[in-house]
Amino acid sequence: MGKVSGSILKALITSVSRSKMSVVGAVLVSVLLPVLLFSFFLDLQGVIENPYFGFLIYLVMGPLLLIGIILMIFGIFFSKGKEDIGLYAYEYLQEQLTRPGRFSRVRKLLYLAVIIAFVTLFISGLVTYTGFHYTETTSFCGQFCHDVMEPEYVTYKNSPHSRVSCVECHIGEGAEWFTKAKVSGVRQLVATAMDSYKRPIITPIAALRPVRETCEQCHRPEMFHGDKLYIKDKYLADENNTHVQTALLMKIGSGGHSGRKAQGIHWHVSEEYKVSYVHIDENREQLSQVILTGPDGGKTVYYSNKIDPRLSNGTGTLREMDCIDCHNRPTHIFLSPEEALDQKIVTNSIPESLPYIKRQALEVIEKSYASAEVAKQSIARELRAWYKDNYPAIVEKQGQLLERAISGVQQAYGENVFPLMDITWNTYKNFIGHKDGTGCFRCHDGSHETKDGEVITNKCESCHVALAVEQPSPDILRILKGSSL
Ligand code: HEC
Ligand code: HEC
Ligand code: HEC
Ligand code: HEC
Ligand code: HEC
Repeated sequence: MGKVSGSILKALITSVSRSKMSVVGAVLVSVLLPVLLFSFFLDLQGVIENPYFGFLIYLVMGPLLLIGIILMIFGIFFSKGKEDIGLYAYEYLQEQLTRPGRFSRVRKLLYLAVIIAFVTLFISGLVTYTGFHYTETTSFCGQFCHDVMEPEYVTYKNSPHSRVSCVECHIGEGAEWFTKAKVSGVRQLVATAMDSYKRPIITPIAALRPVRETCEQCHRPEMFHGDKLYIKDKYLADENNTHVQTALLMKIGSGGHSGRKAQGIHWHVSEEYKVSYVHIDENREQLSQVILTGPDGGKTVYYSNKIDPRLSNGTGTLREMDCIDCHNRPTHIFLSPEEALDQKIVTNSIPESLPYIKRQALEVIEKSYASAEVAKQSIARELRAWYKDNYPAIVEKQGQLLERAISGVQQAYGENVFPLMDITWNTYKNFIGHKDGTGCFRCHDGSHETKDGEVITNKCESCHVALAVEQPSPDILRILKGSSL
């Protein structure tokens, strides 16, 4: 056996050395293979956490190795010289096979061919698999084109979905979506390299996989039920940054299941009813018609009485409502300046005890800055200056309070505003409530009517019961917590 493999190796070396192409290939392979194996090992161990490292292994060295192997094989079989061309010719093979003395040489060649084919198949399989696998990682999607994806990546990291990988929402299972994603991925890489993409990035709603397939792998609104208490913490812009709370009993409802009727908010995604709409703008905020299709297929059409009927007829895009028409920001949640600050105060990144911090912070973060760096510096400078003028004692004796506040305010800004990508406060709207009259109020604002004058409900209580609105320690919450009134 040792002799056989020795002579196979010899045959391989001689065939390779006969062609320049093979020699180049062989050099590539012998240099890359050990480096690649070593890097692969490092990556498996998670030693290096740099998105470019993965890129180098799986999308540069891997394919280069493949090219090396291909060059080697091409060189062996297609190089000049009659002997090598002869390898392929039928007469040659026949001669070799029929002459008793030659037979072992053919066997050697066959061994060689089988081994080369096997090794090539194995390595190319591994390279393709790991290469594609790498392009599916959150690190590749979120960090490789760092500047471009920073806003989506940062908001994603701070969201409840930070453990769900990008591809689980954006691509999902199946060959069709896989191919679509790779094609559009290549286009995006080119756009990034050429710097030809739009800032801010346009929401991919049209290209997104049917979202009900995606979200419903983990969430099942037909299994939701009843009402749920939602509590929001806020801080007023007064000296004490007074803590107030809003408590809403949210009628989450259900999509309907095993005989239970669909009701409440998740009624929109029930089996029996379909809600569609016609939007005349790209952001899906101007809805000229809302169409409700009942279990028997009967349609009720609500027309907007705010949009010119000439626009309502014939123009616009029809879309069937799904999760994303309300949960358009399940993970890339860009907060408003107030929300961002309130969140930092709740988590104590900004000290509640610093007088007027809500008001002063709001003032500095709402300004527009040329870059994230300028913003960071200006926030620190302006807050220091204001407190020095107005609360010198605090600056002197409790300097660390102010410094903690500054760092919290900088974070509130940095996690939501991205000047490099032209993303400022409110660039991406969240449709989950009815801020600024959008979200639910794109339909539920009382301005969509059937020809018979039937309006889509705009009673506050069809969606939630407001138990307390911006009250300092609301009675209802104290009762629920069992503390005395
Ligand atoms: C929980 C599901 C989910 C996950 C996980 C997710 N996305 Fe998204 N993403 C969405 C939805 C939904 C939209 C569309 C928003 C819209 O239409 O308004 C979106 C939009 C985007 C956009 C367009 C810009 C924008 O903000 O609308 C980019 C870019 C993006 N995602 C990148 C990523 C990257 C990178 C990751 C991983 C780091 C990721 N997404 C993870 C659901 C998700
Ligand atoms: C791979 C599983 C997975 C997928 C896919 C997924 N989610 Fe989630 N979702 C989660 C997890 C896990 C949480 C966090 C639960 C928690 O923190 O209690 C969550 C939380 C949520 C919440 C509650 C957020 C909050 O503030 O408490 C909403 C709303 C939500 N997801 C909507 C969606 C929507 C819409 C989609 C589709 C675009 C989606 N999810 C896709 C797993 C998933
Ligand atoms: C008509 C708008 C609307 C549609 C459509 C919708 N949701 Fe919701 N969903 C809400 C609202 C409103 C809440 C509660 C308020 C909030 O999350 O801020 C909610 C809450 C949730 C929660 C958190 C529930 C909890 O118990 O805390 C999940 C998860 C969720 N929705 C998933 C989905 C999925 C998945 C779909 C699509 C199949 C969907 N929703 C469709 C409006 C909607
Ligand atoms: C079509 C359903 C719907 C109707 C009608 C509706 N709301 Fe809401 N409202 C919501 C949802 C959903 C939220 C939660 C948004 C979120 O999770 O941030 C909300 C949030 C609120 C909040 C808390 C806002 C915050 O961020 O602090 C207040 C206050 C409120 N609604 C008042 C009202 C009043 C008053 C009416 C009646 C004029 C009304 N709403 C009608 C769905 C509705
Ligand atoms: C594209 C239009 C549209 C949007 C956006 C929309 N709805 Fe609706 N909604 C409807 C229609 C149509 C009905 C059925 C007619 C009615 O009840 O007046 C309805 C009904 C409801 C009902 C009553 C369901 C029942 O039990 O009969 C609730 C609750 C509701 N919506 C909550 C919400 C909330 C909360 C949001 C925002 C997060 C929202 N809707 C966004 C169109 C919409």
